[in-house]
Amino acid sequence: MASAISVHGLRRTYGEVVAVDSLDLEVADGEVYGFLGPNGAGKSTAVRMLCTLASMTSGTASVAGYDVATQGDRVRLSIGVALQEAALDGKLTGRETLILQGRYYGLERKSIAARIEELAPLLEMDAIDRRVSTYSGGMKRRLDLAAALMHNPRVLFLDEPTTGLDPISRATVWEQIRRLNRELGMTIFLTTQYLEEADVLTHRVGILNRGRLVAEGTPDDLKRTVGSDVVVVRVVGNPEVAAGAIGQVPGIDNVEIYENEVSAATGDGASVISPVAVALAAAGVEVSDLSIHPTTLDDVFLELTGARIEVEE
Ligand SMILES: Nc1ncnc2c1ncn2[C@@H]1O[C@H](COP(=O)(O)OP(=O)(O)OP(=O)(O)O)[C@@H](O)[C@H]1O
Ligand SMILES: [Mg+2]
Repeated sequence: MASAISVHGLRRTYGEVVAVDSLDLEVADGEVYGFLGPNGAGKSTAVRMLCTLASMTSGTASVAGYDVATQGDRVRLSIGVALQEAALDGKLTGRETLILQGRYYGLERKSIAARIEELAPLLEMDAIDRRVSTYSGGMKRRLDLAAALMHNPRVLFLDEPTTGLDPISRATVWEQIRRLNRELGMTIFLTTQYLEEADVLTHRVGILNRGRLVAEGTPDDLKRTVGSDVVVVRVVGNPEVAAGAIGQVPGIDNVEIYENEVSAATGDGASVISPVAVALAAAGVEVSDLSIHPTTLDDVFLELTGARIEVEE
């Protein structure tokens, strides 16, 4: 099977709102694909449609080789899903939740116990026999992820798997995602608002904005569309003057102003940094900070949409 996920002209409207618009996607078997976009971009709507949890207004989609609209049962047996809002029964304990999920997929008692053992890094084993209603938000999210993995699905959908997790839990989830992909060749489709997460975890990224895919490629490809480095200058006073001065420096491609910050894309930050400093001094600009950093996906997003990705913590 070449494509684990194949999507053509997918669209979903809610009244006047076009949540997902003309979406085309191909995700290869064994690929980790990141769906990146700000609040309301349509990420969850797309995931819900691919998981057969929401209907499509138009378009076609197949997952694990099965048609989402006509072979929903087959799709559901092939996938694991951890949604943005974990739907867990608070009256069950963590262990009961996992056992129930395992039974649903027809696993024997022995394999269920073995799988729980395997997923222990995600779980708080001290709390596994406590009711889920006593879990913290982060514990619920990790239990929900473990439940999605009980039957070793061929394709795993994760909607913002690390939002709300502390740094250690986030690292654990990252490690599990890597392990599942590396050891089992699991195809993983994840949505995220975290740029570094997409950068670290995924083979390929699609950037979604207002329901539309505005860019797609490897994280490195996307960074190359902006330039390999970004020079950031924080100024006291008028940033327009600074932007003008920086724009004159050879090797600078693109200058953006964001509040009191001027950022400039360049192919080679190291070779332009001194000329930039000289140009700023000559223009009489008072600089409070001058730095170079490698392009992030946030820079790509700024370039493509004119807005920074806002992340709520
Ligand atoms: N059940 C619904 N009824 C009406 N509108 C909806 C519904 N679900 C989603 N929408 C709308 O569709 C758009 C996309 O929402 P969606 O939840 O897919 O975005 P998202 O990219 O997942 O955002 P977030 O990062 O906040 O999770 C939004 O404008 C939202 O208000
Ligand atoms: Mg969402």
